[in-house]
Amino acid sequence: MNLHSRKSRPSWSGQLAFILAAAASAIGLGNVWRFPYLAAQYGGGLFLLIYVLMVVTLGFTLMTTEVAIGRRTRLSGMEAFSGVHRGWKPLGWLVTLIPVIIVPYYCVIGGWILKYIFAYLFNRHLALEKTVETVSATGEPVVETVTEIVHVSSPDFFSAFIAHPWQPAVFGSVFILFSMWLIFSGVRKGIERSNKIMMPLLFILAIVISVFALFQPGALAGLKFYLLPNLSEYVKDGSFDFVRLCKTCLGAMGQMFYSLSLAMGIMITYGSYMQKTDSIERSVRRIEILDTLVAFLAGLMIIPIAYALGNGPEVMQKSGPGLLFVALPQIFTKMTLFGLPFGRLLGAIFFILVFFAAATSSVSLLETVVASIRDRTGVSRRTASILTLVYTLLMALPSALGYGHGPLGGVIVHGMTFLDLCDYVTNNVMMPIAAFFTCLFVGWAVGSRFVEEEVEYDGHPFRAKVFYRVMIRWIAPVLMLILFVTFVASGLGYFSI
Ligand code: TRP
Repeated sequence: MNLHSRKSRPSWSGQLAFILAAAASAIGLGNVWRFPYLAAQYGGGLFLLIYVLMVVTLGFTLMTTEVAIGRRTRLSGMEAFSGVHRGWKPLGWLVTLIPVIIVPYYCVIGGWILKYIFAYLFNRHLALEKTVETVSATGEPVVETVTEIVHVSSPDFFSAFIAHPWQPAVFGSVFILFSMWLIFSGVRKGIERSNKIMMPLLFILAIVISVFALFQPGALAGLKFYLLPNLSEYVKDGSFDFVRLCKTCLGAMGQMFYSLSLAMGIMITYGSYMQKTDSIERSVRRIEILDTLVAFLAGLMIIPIAYALGNGPEVMQKSGPGLLFVALPQIFTKMTLFGLPFGRLLGAIFFILVFFAAATSSVSLLETVVASIRDRTGVSRRTASILTLVYTLLMALPSALGYGHGPLGGVIVHGMTFLDLCDYVTNNVMMPIAAFFTCLFVGWAVGSRFVEEEVEYDGHPFRAKVFYRVMIRWIAPVLMLILFVTFVASGLGYFSI
């Protein structure tokens, strides 16, 4: 089969269209929700540094690989590997399974965003049950449950919301139905077009919020934590904590895959629609820069706020995946314009902009799942979509209600709720494995020329060619192997953590 000859596939109208489409898929909750809380958990500056290094080395290598494979084979993620080299079908399976696990919980977080939009627009309150310890008249300690009404601007609003018996499931389902509707109604094109305005607006608003946050008392300590790598945290009892460093690297690597939508076959599919005359290398660099800038800004606005709230490290550890939702409302209440409380409006606008970013990503995730079902079973688009919809709605339930007190609540596996577990397993286990085998596939089975020729097609220079070749054959697989072995070994108790 001559892989250069499939001409009938439609393609993007040009390089800019490709960059914007890929960036729309990449920029989403991963940047605004996930990146800041991971940076907070893994020690700030060091995580940021490792993340950026990961993006320009591994991220560049893998994205170039995926886009080039896609454009050269004109096949989608599932078929591309086996289409090029027989026997690599399982890798196709693995990369298609990842979005299937991600999509339900991604939509649950989308539902959290929706809830905040509603709460800001309509000034909502929620009831929060709290246990308080008091001392009775006789001096005995008494534990009482009190119900407190919390407003959306309160940091407790988030815990009240995710513990609610049905609201997270309802908002998550609305998000799923909305995304599916976008795919079907053709409005999707409109959303993608409006993102050309929404994304720059989100960018500007994030800068405004960051600057405002940095003027709050205590925020500078947060800035220092976020920007300056601090190795002293990694020294335990006088010796360097190598396992913790590996875990930070693994966390940064997983986040890099997630944020750039890598190791899921998505960029292969996107690449398959790219025009032959566009520069792969330049496009990849631009997508990376855009995506990393948004993540960086999100951290810049959220982490200093966590410090300004009081005890920064404690707020950050305790909030976990809720950091965005706990920290930001604090700053919105403080923002006034000409003496008017401006924060409520700003809160609504901010979450609406994030919603747009999340919607384009979830649409692209859902569509991948629909496409894989069709590829596998040959059913119609309609049937595949209904199956995807039912599956996503059902699988979203344990993620949505996992924090509550209902029957699905409080199920903890390995110290994680269902949502955290899906997130962790896909990002820190499945994606590194998929990426590892992609490197072996290109570096050893097919040969890096396969990618290099495609990047250089039409006379484009491949500036990082030597770097790419060394990365894909040696550095990337070895690095991933080391991280993975350390991770597994530490889990099995060979290292003390
Ligand atoms: N990259 C997206 C984000 O940062 C999330 C995501 C992961 C995604 N995998 C994807 C989006 C696949 C589209 C397709 O939020």
